[in-house]
Formats: sequence, structure tokens, C-alpha cells
Amino acid sequence: MADKLSSRLYPSRIDLPADTRVKIVELLNQTLAATTDLKTQTKQAHWNVKGTDFYQLHELFDEIADELEEYVDMFAERITALGGYACGTARMAAANSILPEYPVDILDGMQHVTALAERFAAYAKHIRQAINTTDDLGDADTADLYTEVSRTIDKRLWFLEAHLQPAEVKSENGTTTAKTKEKVAAK
Ligand SMILES: [Fe+2]
Repeated sequence: MADKLSSRLYPSRIDLPADTRVKIVELLNQTLAATTDLKTQTKQAHWNVKGTDFYQLHELFDEIADELEEYVDMFAERITALGGYACGTARMAAANSILPEYPVDILDGMQHVTALAERFAAYAKHIRQAINTTDDLGDADTADLYTEVSRTIDKRLWFLEAHLQPAEVKSENGTTTAKTKEKVAAK
């Protein structure tokens, strides 16, 4: 049922051909599902994170979830602007998302950061591929929307990964010694 709905098209005066719009709407519905899924998973981390980094991670995850909530609306409204049907319920998102379910057995801050970083990387890949797909289909506006989201998602992946990287990483020419958390703690 969800598959049919995700490519449903209503008549529109918009100047993009119907066969092009069907392809874009289908892709946008996949993105809508993944965005809703990622937003609720980020909220899950916001509520359930524990440990010494609790407060800053609790706040960071909320900030990221707010951004994703905006993207949910932007993707859904691009679908309807193209004459499509936005598949936006939680059940539809669960059925259509490309992301794995959030682990329920983690507590520590860095475990949550790792789980989110893995999901943000998969989502970032999907969004970057969609820039090219929609550009090739001749829809510069949808490609622009994907580009905007892509830039922020890359930035958020950096924010997450920065928690996981050593305090001092090896430079490209190898002159700087990597200082791991363990080495710092041993001092
Ligand atoms: Fe909250």
C-alpha cells in the first residue's frame, strides 16, 4: 500500500513532466521516511543518554532533532508541490526508511554518538546521491533542497565524529603523535 501511495500523482499545472515527477516524488518519499526515522532516533538518544557528558549531548541531540524536523516539513511540502502524496505517518516512515532501528541496549554518551554517527553517515550518502539523481532528472529546485540538507548533515556528522576522534590526531605528514584518550588519562 505504502509503495503505491509513495508514487501517487495528482494533476498539476507545474511544468515538469509527470513521468519525471513520479520518479522524484518516489525518491522524496523515501527521504521523508528516512528523515522522520532519523529525527525520532535522535530524540531517542536525547531522552536516553546517560553518563558524564549527559547534559551537553542531551542538548546537542535536541538541536539536531529540531533541524531534522524542519527537513521533514520541507521534503513533505516539496512532494506535494510536485503533485505527489506525502507519506508522512510514523508507520509509513517505519515501513519505508533505509535506516536500521536504533539500538535499545546502549546508555553511555559515546555509544549514542556512535549509533547516531553511523545513521547520519548512511543518511548523508542517501542525500548526496539524491542531489545527482534529481539534477539528472532536470529538477534543479529539488536538487537545491537536497544540497542544502546535505551541507548541514555533513556538518552534523562532523559534530558527532569530533566526540569520537582522539584529542590530537596524526597530521597527514605524520609529524604529530596521536594522543588517545587513554594516553591523556594516564598522565
Ligand atoms: Fe527534550
